[in-house]
Amino acid sequence: MSKIVTTDPILLNDWHVIAKSEDLQPATILPARLLGENLLLWRTGDHIMAWKDVCPHRGARLSLGNISGDTLICPYHGLAYDITGQCTYIPAHPDLQPPARAHVQTYQAYELYDLIWVNLSAKAQGTTKAEKENIPFFPEWNNPNFRKFLCGSYKYYSSGFRSIENFLDVSHFPFVHDGLLGDHNRTATADYEVEVEENSISLRNVRVWQPDPDGTGTGGEVIYNYRVVRPLTAYFVKQAPAGELTIFFTVTPVDEEECLGWMWIAMNYGHDIPEAELRAFQDKVVQQDIPIVESQHPKRLPLDLPAEFHLPCDRASIAYRKWLKQMGVTFGTV
Ligand code: FES
Ligand SMILES: [Fe+2]
Repeated sequence: MSKIVTTDPILLNDWHVIAKSEDLQPATILPARLLGENLLLWRTGDHIMAWKDVCPHRGARLSLGNISGDTLICPYHGLAYDITGQCTYIPAHPDLQPPARAHVQTYQAYELYDLIWVNLSAKAQGTTKAEKENIPFFPEWNNPNFRKFLCGSYKYYSSGFRSIENFLDVSHFPFVHDGLLGDHNRTATADYEVEVEENSISLRNVRVWQPDPDGTGTGGEVIYNYRVVRPLTAYFVKQAPAGELTIFFTVTPVDEEECLGWMWIAMNYGHDIPEAELRAFQDKVVQQDIPIVESQHPKRLPLDLPAEFHLPCDRASIAYRKWLKQMGVTFGTV
């Protein structure tokens, strides 16, 4: 197997979103980047392929090629690769049986929640049920009482961990999201509970006063309950007077200092609010976050606690940094 860019043992074995399903149409090639590796995606029938974007012959970018039936044709010398990544035809030598080495580096790909998930762990073919179950669970996905819409992707020129930490931080609401998620006259952050388990961090009873928590125009206190379920996936339920709003937030580590955020939002109220309005609200909130997150120095998340000082309201961030460090993540951290 060819060497890949990162050696992070956790993120390499995790699933990451690299495209929306609708962006991957049959007969098209979609270039992407994950963990510092250039990839391409293509699909035919029920198969989704995620390949290293390098032809094993002379290193040309396969994403510049084209699809012909169930094969992908390299743009340079026209070698054809089947869905397993094996070369099946060499135009310069039509009678030559392609050697076993004429094989593209392939990765596992799986479609779930209208997103394409990829796992870069070294594994030849096939994805087992257990492996697919490692894709984080989005509780409202099959719940018809919740309307759902996908926001993003949002690009941050920063570590993915910085964007997750920002997602868990409510004490910035009165400053960064004054008038939307908080109020500059109500800056005190109430205590909340943190529980760290091997595979998750839960934040409970995170209380925030919001000027218009559910679109009815009346201010009031809401309660967030968060769960961090993977290093780069977190989820919350916001309990507002009109009902529940949840966000499933997963972040793609493109490079150590570049990431993409994807947000599935689900809500069991406000069914008559136009989706464009809800989406515009979320876009605005995230566009307020991005310049702040990108300004943070260093861009990679410091996992050694003494590198910065901490306040009682930072207990979520402290738990997150400790958890990541204990797990052994390295990509996008210092
Ligand atoms: S580099 Fe791809 S066919 Fe030669
Ligand atoms: Fe924010």
